[in-house]
Amino acid sequence: MSSNPLRPYKGNTPEIPASVYVDGSSVLIGAITLGEDASIWPLVAARGDVNNITIGARTNIQDGTVLHVSRKTIENPQGHPLIIGEDVTIGHKAMLHGCRVGNRVLVGMGVIILDGAVIEDDVIIGAGSLVPPGKHLESGYLYLGSPIKKARPLSDKERAFLPTSADNYVRLKNEYLAEL
Ligand SMILES: CC(C)(COP(=O)(O)OP(=O)(O)OC[C@H]1O[C@@H](n2cnc3c(N)ncnc32)[C@H](O)[C@@H]1OP(=O)(O)O)[C@@H](O)C(=O)NCCC(=O)NCCS
Repeated sequence: MSSNPLRPYKGNTPEIPASVYVDGSSVLIGAITLGEDASIWPLVAARGDVNNITIGARTNIQDGTVLHVSRKTIENPQGHPLIIGEDVTIGHKAMLHGCRVGNRVLVGMGVIILDGAVIEDDVIIGAGSLVPPGKHLESGYLYLGSPIKKARPLSDKERAFLPTSADNYVRLKNEYLAEL
């Protein structure tokens, strides 16, 4: 696709290393930083306008996901930026708003994460779950439901799958980059 998915806003333009894949149908606006080998799949909308968005190395943001932030106010001078760690898999049609996601996290398809939520490293969030504002998800667990509840500790196999999922997407985005 020939359109440019990267749009400036108030002097900020998304910072994208050459190793990153950004699908031409996605829209990335303003203060957004991506780490090496990250990937942004079709129809992602990410708006770094009233605060900033950081996406870590090797993290994949799958199709139809929406990423946004909350503005700085007198009551909350930092507002709520969106910080996503390394080797994270964000499933199709998730919505992440002003939250912090650690490393090696799998956010299932259709998950909604609200302002101020903190997801520690090595967590799986089941498809369709809702993470309420300010909720803290502890490292090493599967969480499910709406509102979300701790379900059980991750198995060794699931822990091992988290970086594997990220690796799979790094390989896939390399194939897509080769098609451009
Ligand atoms: C939660 C998940 C990891 C499966 O875990 P699991 O322990 O193997 O779960 P099971 O399939 O054995 O089901 C166990 C119970 O959880 C329920 N369950 C499974 N997935 C659930 C979900 N996302 N939300 C709520 N409940 C769920 C099952 O219905 C079952 O309930 P029951 O005991 O009352 O019958 C999987 O269903 C999931 O949501 N994966 C996310 C995949 C994804 O979105 N990937 C990103 C895009 S590639």
